[in-house]
Amino acid sequence: MASATPGSAKPSASKDPGLTKDGRARMTVEDGVTLLMRDHRTVEDLFKAYEAAKSDERRKVEIFRKIAMELKVHMQLEEEIFYPASREFVDEQDTVNEAEVEHAAAKDLICQLEGMAPTDDYYDAKVKVLQEMIDHHVEEEESEYFPEVRRSDMDLKAIGDQMSARKEELTAQPPKAPRPH
Ligand SMILES: [Fe+2]
Ligand SMILES: [Fe+2]
Repeated sequence: MASATPGSAKPSASKDPGLTKDGRARMTVEDGVTLLMRDHRTVEDLFKAYEAAKSDERRKVEIFRKIAMELKVHMQLEEEIFYPASREFVDEQDTVNEAEVEHAAAKDLICQLEGMAPTDDYYDAKVKVLQEMIDHHVEEEESEYFPEVRRSDMDLKAIGDQMSARKEELTAQPPKAPRPH
């Protein structure tokens, strides 16, 4: 088993791209596609948990909030980094265009759900339609888009590191504001 030899000098955390702001090792991923596919599995599991929550309204809202957060961060990573970087490696530009349009539709539905109570007659129906939209979108990414990119010369390791760092920023808890005296 390989083991890193700890250096005696304290590395400058903010300057070292391999370290987080507080000096911990940054998780590096195999490649960008692997990172995105891991997110897909996380969201699928959350949708299953939503179904299992049945009539437990509090649990459903809690799970929906997680779904919304995961999807927003994931879509932002793809829209900011992965989609623009992979465009030149994809033959049909419609592959990327359709993915962006599907994101917009999913965001619209998430926005509607955020303004609704779980007791609303249409709450479950909208979550179900969101799940179906995401299933379809993920299926297209994983059966067409990602394999095409994987066959290309795109540097997926570099894009994976970039998305990993951005994801860390997007999911970081904002510092608590000092309490007024
Ligand atoms: Fe995706
Ligand atoms: Fe996507």
